Amino acid sequence: MAYRDLREFISQLEKEGDLQRIKAEVDWNLELSHISKLNDEKGGPALLFENVKGYSTPVFCSALATPKRLAIALDLPRDLSVMGVAREWMHRTMQKKIPPVEVATGPCKENIDKGDKVDLFKFPIPKYYKKDGGRYIGTTHAIISRSPESGWVNLGTHRMQILDKNHAGIWMIPGKHVQLHLKEYEKLGKPMPVAVAIGVDPTIFLCASAPFPPGESEYDYIGALRGLPVETVKGETVDLPIPATAEVVLEGEVDPIALRDEGPYGEYSGYYQATFPKPFLKVNCVTYRNNPVHWGCTTGKPITDIHILQALNRTALLWTDLEKMGLPGIKGVYCPPETGGYFTAIISIKQLYAGHARQVGTAVVSCPSGAYSTKLVVIVDDDVDPSNLSQVWWAIGMKFQPDRGTDILKRGFSSHIDPSLPIEEKDTTSRMILDATTPFEWRNEKKPTLITLDEEVVERVKRRWGEFFPSKTF
Ligand SMILES: Cc1cc2nc3c(=O)[nH]c(=O)nc-3n(C[C@H](O)[C@H](O)[C@H](O)COP(=O)(O)O)c2cc1C
Repeated sequence: MAYRDLREFISQLEKEGDLQRIKAEVDWNLELSHISKLNDEKGGPALLFENVKGYSTPVFCSALATPKRLAIALDLPRDLSVMGVAREWMHRTMQKKIPPVEVATGPCKENIDKGDKVDLFKFPIPKYYKKDGGRYIGTTHAIISRSPESGWVNLGTHRMQILDKNHAGIWMIPGKHVQLHLKEYEKLGKPMPVAVAIGVDPTIFLCASAPFPPGESEYDYIGALRGLPVETVKGETVDLPIPATAEVVLEGEVDPIALRDEGPYGEYSGYYQATFPKPFLKVNCVTYRNNPVHWGCTTGKPITDIHILQALNRTALLWTDLEKMGLPGIKGVYCPPETGGYFTAIISIKQLYAGHARQVGTAVVSCPSGAYSTKLVVIVDDDVDPSNLSQVWWAIGMKFQPDRGTDILKRGFSSHIDPSLPIEEKDTTSRMILDATTPFEWRNEKKPTLITLDEEVVERVKRRWGEFFPSKTF
């Protein structure tokens, strides 16, 4: 079932007992984010704050903080793991892309503020962490831009800080697609038209924050994930396709040259990223639904909402890229939420020839979705579930030999959010491929023999379990 909008997703969560409406008054200034963060740490439900101090409209938070809610977002069996949801994502998006369809109008046009009427403080935007530079209106949204050279429409999630009533700073990591579009506008000497859709069907956000290859529109993959095209409307002031059911849409332009200070911001690494000058959106028009729901994400230290959802979309895209490259024997892929879905990738393979494990390791750091930020690739045999970190540690402890199993690569595509890189040297990263497989070329008699329990005895023991432990059930 595809959700037409964020509201249908929220209703579904409520039907499944996975939503808490918070009716007590909550301050947008730190209190809201801290409730959400502590709730995520306890594995609590999604939250709808209905009484935000000084505002009459709600804020939705903690939305995708559990594997079950990822499954609800994609309408999959509720007991799937993050890796299981990612596998289904890959299957759906590899089948057929479904482009968006334009409709005449939509609920996002219920209210329209232009010119002097634009006021970003009209919405209950949280300040998430004490040292944040301000209130972040863009955490769970899609920034829509179009390449002036090729016409390619991109959707990306990039944090946005309110700078004043009609300006918001945007952190576009160099090499990310919206930044490539901005560079094209710079060559033309023109401002870049932008629309920002906040409060959308969860597949739109999940795809906007996923590393699809350049030149491809996230809209086509969102359609594939939903099994239905996204309905879009034209902007009031920009000629861009905008999800018709978005709660709030900011329309405006980004000057390719002008910069304003943005930050600090409590990033998903668990550390603040310092203030520095960045491009910003001049908002010329805001359209919004009646009683708009603001969707926010707390980011910050793992593991909460953002880390789980990034683990999903990074795992799904990396797995897809490896399959598209025609690499045989890939059994599982996992970008753990412990490292925010970035920096680390664990792949299990059924080795088919000598050198296979290293081929997979280098493919991970070279493919479009794996190149960015990855510092550690762990390759394990197919007797290890890559999403079970205890099993992964077993493989590292027992199968890995440092001189044989380690390769260091230099000058890779880094994440500027990586706190291990010094501030003045954030542009590239080194990487390690850690091959924790038993070498394929070892002859069978040289291979260590894995201990497995005797199946017949296991069956017998299970049948008689109650005799051995009469007072316990485990
Ligand atoms: C909640 C959230 C916030 C994010 N903030 C930023 C950001 O501020 N800057 C950035 O470049 N990427 C950010 N990302 C990651 C990008 O969304 C991701 O790299 C995406 O692939 C970018 O879009 P693109 O592939 O079209 O370039 C964020 C992701 C999430 C889930």
